[in-house]
Amino acid sequence: MNGLRVFALGLACAGLLAALAEPAPGRRATAAPGAVTYSKEIAPILYKNCVSCHRAGEVAPFPLESYQDAAKRARLLAEAAATRYMPPWKPEPGYGEFRGERRLTEREIALLQRWADTGAPRGDAADLPPAPTFADGWQMGEPDLVLKMPQPFTVSADGPDVFQTFVIPMNLPRDEYVAGYEFRPDNRRVLHHSVSYLDNSGTARRKDAADPAVGYSSFGGPGFTPSGALGGWSPGASAVRLPEGVAQPVRRGTDLVIQNHYHPTGKVETDQSSVALYFSKTPPKMIAVSVPLFQRGLDIPPGAKRHRVSASLTTPIDIQVISVTPHMHFLGREMKVTATLGTGAAVPLIWIKDWDYYWHSQYQYRTPLALPAGTRIEMEAFFDNSADNPRNPNDPPERVGWGSETTDEMALCFIQVAVEKSSEAAELRSAVLKQLGFAR
Ligand code: HEC
Repeated sequence: MNGLRVFALGLACAGLLAALAEPAPGRRATAAPGAVTYSKEIAPILYKNCVSCHRAGEVAPFPLESYQDAAKRARLLAEAAATRYMPPWKPEPGYGEFRGERRLTEREIALLQRWADTGAPRGDAADLPPAPTFADGWQMGEPDLVLKMPQPFTVSADGPDVFQTFVIPMNLPRDEYVAGYEFRPDNRRVLHHSVSYLDNSGTARRKDAADPAVGYSSFGGPGFTPSGALGGWSPGASAVRLPEGVAQPVRRGTDLVIQNHYHPTGKVETDQSSVALYFSKTPPKMIAVSVPLFQRGLDIPPGAKRHRVSASLTTPIDIQVISVTPHMHFLGREMKVTATLGTGAAVPLIWIKDWDYYWHSQYQYRTPLALPAGTRIEMEAFFDNSADNPRNPNDPPERVGWGSETTDEMALCFIQVAVEKSSEAAELRSAVLKQLGFAR
């Protein structure tokens, strides 16, 4: 009798202890046969799609590295996945196939849902895949040139976002061809995104010298017309390599100009980010050049909910489109870029239906898109300048035109293309500027 009671008590305690050992949502210590478990189905989804940002020292607000991390938020994860709020990926499917695409499959979304609905069971530890590892060093091996911000930049604990531009002399002994690029953020807590430009006019140096701070302040761009752009970084972005045989010429004497966007964290932070460059060892078969497609006569009336803007250009030469970089500010809501061939066939380049300045990035095609001479590329953008737009910097809304301040707008898409000769690059650039109303 006594023995039995002790035994029963022991069982109850074991049950209680097991229950206590599990976080609240994971009440089930053992999963029913065939159940969706963390170890078997969920960890692989999180490791592949979420942990790059949801880990210590990264941009996301909490880690998703362990069972506990995930189980206590099972419902929230399922919702963020179902609404496609997470992982953050702006381009619409079917409008361009991009490298590094971050999209869950319908099946993965259903698994997260099912897991949350069934109490987030852990499952068998033997099913758990190895935890992902993240390269500490440069992702593409030893760079040919590493360029670091000359001094650390200090961001105050609070206050508005800071847009700061830094000039880094490249000191190239000769002209080079850049085939690969990687931006390495130094302080991922405070750095939101970065864009790298090139300047061979000395303008950025002069602006830097005129501003007593480390670097100089500018929002929409580097504050002048750069001679080129290298790429950008936003959370989760990886190193960029141009397609085989393609490289971007960089002249001796060029400065690297990086524009960083910092979001105060509540603590004083410093950042001293760097950029790695990989040069082409042999002269490239094709050279990369970026052309802007934009509508500069912007005039967005106050209160307009869906103000439409469009611009187009026709390429005078055969091109291969490598990447696109849409750019708008806080009133921008949507941008679509489409190419129409001479035959009338349409090639979708990109469509961002839910523009968010904070997630803007350069989108590189899995394989370059060949567009013959005579192809027309059209950009269509929509702006919400009503009081309903929570990001509207003006309260009440005001008339907004083109400019580089937070309160100005831009309707712009950089189109990076590969061409065979530098004479073609020049021809393309001048044709584009002429068509957009900058005839010289
Ligand atoms: C590219 C970086 C990145 C990736 C990849 C990513 N997240 Fe996030 N996540 C963030 C950031 C940044 C936030 C902060 C919220 C924001 O966007 O303002 C966030 C917030 C969240 C939130 C909180 C949402 C809320 O309402 O508070 C959830 C849940 C979440 N992520 C789940 C996921 C899941 C699940 C995945 C993978 C399927 C994922 N995230 C992948 C960066 C990322």
